Amino acid sequence: MKTSMSIIVFFFFVTFLAISASSLNPEETCIQRNINRSQPPSSSLEHKASKFDFLVDKLCSDMARAVMFSVRITGKFPSHYVKAMCNVFGNDEKKVKEYVMKNWLGGEKVLLNLVSKKDLHMASRNQEKSPKVQELYDLCKETFTGKAPSPASMPVQKLCSVLDSVSPADVGLEEVSQDDDRGYGVSGVSRFNRVGRWAQPITFLDIHECDTFTMCIFCFPTSSVIPLHDHPEMAVFSKILYGSLHVKAYDWVEPPCIITQNKGVPGSLPARLAKLVSDKVITPQSEIPVLYPKTGGNLHCFTALTPCAVLDILTPPYKESAGRSCSYYMDYPFSTFALEKGVKTVEGKEDEYAWLVQIDTPDDLHMRPGSYTGPTIRV
Ligand SMILES: [Fe+2]
Repeated sequence: MKTSMSIIVFFFFVTFLAISASSLNPEETCIQRNINRSQPPSSSLEHKASKFDFLVDKLCSDMARAVMFSVRITGKFPSHYVKAMCNVFGNDEKKVKEYVMKNWLGGEKVLLNLVSKKDLHMASRNQEKSPKVQELYDLCKETFTGKAPSPASMPVQKLCSVLDSVSPADVGLEEVSQDDDRGYGVSGVSRFNRVGRWAQPITFLDIHECDTFTMCIFCFPTSSVIPLHDHPEMAVFSKILYGSLHVKAYDWVEPPCIITQNKGVPGSLPARLAKLVSDKVITPQSEIPVLYPKTGGNLHCFTALTPCAVLDILTPPYKESAGRSCSYYMDYPFSTFALEKGVKTVEGKEDEYAWLVQIDTPDDLHMRPGSYTGPTIRV
């Protein structure tokens, strides 16, 4: 008796291992088995039932009972079972429905109640493609080396193309309308209570950070500002997810043109000449702005004209020990110091140039961390 019991347990164990080792998961194996059974038998390959068949049938029958139990409790198929059906039928919704009707039900009316359309679509969609944010991560991981890429490189073009297609929903955000401008995730502030509006912070959502790049999101309430700052030896890709953002950006004039004088500049700090690269409003429809160490507007200032969110990819990341810390600046018109000794005339219009003076981190820069709620990245 003891020996026969051991044999049964052994066969169950072997059967379970056999199912687990196949490329299909156990539910998919059972579904595939049901399909095979419904096919007309082939005379040349007549199937002979084995002890394993009996045990697999038993396991499938138990699995089916568990699924039915779940259906009774919840009123629909478990989402993992719908996913298994989608896998077996290559995400063909029609075939999934046919299978359910044939093997589980007697009519379409019942089917509609049991298979949630949302589950079916979700399962199909999840199988078709990994989340956009994962695609971005994978691309960054294989592209970035720890040094800013060159503007003309192919990976840059590809990354811009993927970034261009990212929507707020792809990163777990909902578009905030002008009428509901409470700042991201601010609790306790009624839409009718505008008192705290101007003091609301910019919310920073960290998606991923490693040695070679940072992926993050900034959510701006209307009128919030990230003051003029730099990205030393870095490249930054920005995707406006929603809203309108004013960008004013400069690049340093090379070779450096620096003056130090006593009047007009607080603390007599040196002022360095920079050239205006952009002074415009960007929206989700705009071309992806990319800045590089020496071009594209490495020093920039953001002002939110409406509630808006920006997905940023920085490569390499800020790292103080590697000389990549963030500095803030105040810009002064070219005419402020234009007549100083040693300053040459500039090419083009003078109003395309400004003197930048480094300042401490502005006191009115309110930034706070938030929680990223988009798809989890598989690292
Ligand atoms: Fe920046």
